[in-house]
Amino acid sequence: MQPTGLFYGSSTGNTATAARDIAQALGNVTLHDIAETSADTLLSYSNIILGASTWGFGELQDDWQQFLPGMAELDLAGKTVALFGLGDQYSYSDVFLDAMGTIHDTVVACGATVVGAWPTDGYEFEASSAVKNGSFAGLALDADNQNDMTPQRIQQWTAQLTTMFR
Ligand SMILES: Cc1cc2nc3c(=O)[nH]c(=O)nc-3n(C[C@H](O)[C@H](O)[C@H](O)COP(=O)(O)O)c2cc1C
Repeated sequence: MQPTGLFYGSSTGNTATAARDIAQALGNVTLHDIAETSADTLLSYSNIILGASTWGFGELQDDWQQFLPGMAELDLAGKTVALFGLGDQYSYSDVFLDAMGTIHDTVVACGATVVGAWPTDGYEFEASSAVKNGSFAGLALDADNQNDMTPQRIQQWTAQLTTMFR
């Protein structure tokens, strides 16, 4: 597998923790905190993972607010992108993981191929823009309510990614 770049934004550390665990499970991954990274660093990788929490009411996490406009201008054709999101399904049931939906739509518009869809079974929520064709666009994590399920979800998802990344 070619090197993978994992880019994440995190306000209270939950997405950062998941990013480290995903990198460890997958191997050969370089972590980039997007607060300290320019968007064109994405172009160094053909395998890309993007991680984001959702804030406000269905809004991008602060660092993603800064990072996304630059990313939106890139040509990501030929890139394989996997997404993961952190949210709170009970307190934000109508906008659960919406940031992952926003990022998904942006990378698709940039020409990337998105892999790593994840079933909605086992989650309780009303609505999410991260659901595309009946599945989450990427790995759905809820550190607030289902943190005990995170290690197994990461294990399963990264095993799936190894077959999809080149
Ligand atoms: C003020 C506030 C607003 C939030 N808004 C949302 C939201 O709209 N949708 C959602 O799914 N989660 C929401 N969350 C939950 C966070 O996304 C969740 O706690 C996440 O694990 C934080 O990750 P981070 O520490 O990496 O930023 C919110 C949490 C807080 C405290």
